[in-house]
Amino acid sequence: MLFKSLVLLAGTAAVTHGAPSPSSANDIPRDVLTQIPSGSWGTNPTNLLLHLYAPSNLTARPSIILALHGCFGSGPSHAEMTQAFQTLSTPHNFLVLYPSSINDNNCWDVASPSSLTRDGGGDSTTLAAIVRWATTAFHADPKKVFITGSSSGCMMSNVMASTYPDLFSAVSCYSGVPAGCLAGSPGSSPISADQTCANGGIRKTGDEWAEVVRGMAPLPEGKGKGKGKGKSNRGWKYPKVQTWHGDNDFFVNYFHNFEEQLKQWGAIHEVEFTRNETNVPAAGYTKMVFGDGTKLVGYSASGVGHVVPQHEVVDLEWFGI
Ligand SMILES: *[C@@H]1O[C@H](CO)[C@@H](O)[C@H](O)[C@H]1NC(C)=O
Ligand SMILES: *[C@@H]1O[C@H](CO)[C@@H](O)[C@H](O)[C@H]1NC(C)=O
Repeated sequence: MLFKSLVLLAGTAAVTHGAPSPSSANDIPRDVLTQIPSGSWGTNPTNLLLHLYAPSNLTARPSIILALHGCFGSGPSHAEMTQAFQTLSTPHNFLVLYPSSINDNNCWDVASPSSLTRDGGGDSTTLAAIVRWATTAFHADPKKVFITGSSSGCMMSNVMASTYPDLFSAVSCYSGVPAGCLAGSPGSSPISADQTCANGGIRKTGDEWAEVVRGMAPLPEGKGKGKGKGKSNRGWKYPKVQTWHGDNDFFVNYFHNFEEQLKQWGAIHEVEFTRNETNVPAAGYTKMVFGDGTKLVGYSASGVGHVVPQHEVVDLEWFGI
């Protein structure tokens, strides 16, 4: 089971084209996954790599999707796992950023203070630099920057939404854990991490989880208790969140990690469970609606294991593009 999940997460490598150092977005090849030289986006304290897919017919003010792989994966393998984004990118006018972690079994750092703190110099800082670079280079709409990820990439999506809420307007997260769930763990991979979180052993009230989120982008003076409904300490709006989990996931405990994430973002957005919609968006899936369904949605996938297949069309609807 474990081995199968890991192999699925790794996927197969897509054909990749190296690019010369691009001086502008016009120099980046289109309709093909392209590696961007690491000097392009500025700070890179955690040595991340970046691949990018942009369609040739991108028009003014495109949207950006930051898509994060799971442990043992890579940007190119994740591009394979989310391939529908390529055909959808032209009609929906977006480009996709596929960064790669090459540290800690290719997992994203969702454990150390440097990554769990805004501008702390960890993976979150590097990913923020990548997003800012791409937004400028492609003259993208900064209000249409989204994040999605699978497994470790979902864990990191929740961390990015907490450390840089000002950069993202929506999250679609597959098979992860709440932001801050691995805080204090010696690593973030199945091999290096304290397994208590993945096993569903970290439980908090919604308000406690919300404080964890707010603490990741603290006021410069370290003060402040949050600006209220859906807002960070600094007054930024938190992105809307949808999160997916398979109830057959024995790798990242389904019940507790799914539930704790819903508690976390439910407390941030001050929404409570309202209703289930069964067999949405597909047979065996249950859409769990919180509030009016515009800020928080959960998708419980019956009989699905650790790898919930990416639902790209549902993601785009959630992103509103
Ligand atoms: C891009 O636009 C051109 C001109 O409108 C069209 O011929 C071409 O098929 C489009 N390419 C894609 C990938 O949609
Ligand atoms: C809604 O669906 C979830 C996931 O299947 C289930 O755990 C929960 O009990 C359901 N809630 C209600 C009120 O039916």
